[in-house]
Amino acid sequence: MRAGRRLPLRARRDAVPWEAQRPTWRAARPELIARAVRRAEARPSGNWYVVGASRDLRDDRPLGRTVAGREVVLWRDAGGRLRGGPGACPHLGAPLRRAPVRAGCLVCPWHGLKLDGGPFAGWEPYPTWDDGTLLWVRLDAVGGEPPLARPPLPERPDPGSALVAVYTGVGRCEPTDVLANRLDPWHGAWLHPYSFVDLTVREPAADGTDTLLVDVSFRVAGRLVVPVTAAFTAPGPRTVVMRIVAGEGVGSVVETHATPLGAGPRTAVVEAVLATSPRRGFAVARALSPLLRPLTRATAARLWRDDLAYAERRHAARGGGGRH
Ligand code: FES
Ligand SMILES: [Fe+2]
Repeated sequence: MRAGRRLPLRARRDAVPWEAQRPTWRAARPELIARAVRRAEARPSGNWYVVGASRDLRDDRPLGRTVAGREVVLWRDAGGRLRGGPGACPHLGAPLRRAPVRAGCLVCPWHGLKLDGGPFAGWEPYPTWDDGTLLWVRLDAVGGEPPLARPPLPERPDPGSALVAVYTGVGRCEPTDVLANRLDPWHGAWLHPYSFVDLTVREPAADGTDTLLVDVSFRVAGRLVVPVTAAFTAPGPRTVVMRIVAGEGVGSVVETHATPLGAGPRTAVVEAVLATSPRRGFAVARALSPLLRPLTRATAARLWRDDLAYAERRHAARGGGGRH
């Protein structure tokens, strides 16, 4: 079908109303989800935490965040390399997130102390990593795992040929609640009918990887949908990856990272969408990417409004504390 080859869209026939779709609650067994979460949390992170999007870090000012209760500051040195460390000035504790970057150095706004990224006056840098899409910091004192030289990155499409968007949201919950939400793909067509229809989760593979294969259609407009097969995996204790393995956009990846912020149950969700496609039309889409990015973000924001509400509800339901 020629048109079908050019356009990934399909018109849904026999569309069933939302309330008439097959309930998924029997298949979404709580112990199945809990087990997948527990196994994910046992996988190594090397103490790496996602801090934000690479493109959000400008040359002239730093990015300051609290990660797992630690104030962290990141900036780029004169060579464009990512630098980072504690967010308090070693002199009298000024907030370094407000320090301008001049000639690659962080210049403390209180008394002009300059940090070039190396240890200075008791200020010890943290290992950092810029993977081109996301910024990471390694906090060995909080992670408590054997450190890894680099964050364990899931396989991604070539960023040169992918449309990249990063969404960040914050919820009153812990990373485990975000993981539990992402490892419950059964809620997709019920909770997000504006985005997903005709969702079927295949029986989980018994290969120990906890990969969940999901056949689902993305709703584009009205009856027009894009059917795909997506594989969900949790490669680390704070990361869930959805990869398109069949249908439009094969190889596209959605990486969801949950970063504990500290000071109460607050968790940042940093989600990177790396969309790719062998289609020629996709090159045009990439050329338009500055225009498409806010659109992609708007969709992610809507999904995450509902998903964070789910994660927050789970957090509250389990007593608002502890990890399970
Ligand atoms: S507090 Fe930073 S230089 Fe004094
Ligand atoms: Fe969801």
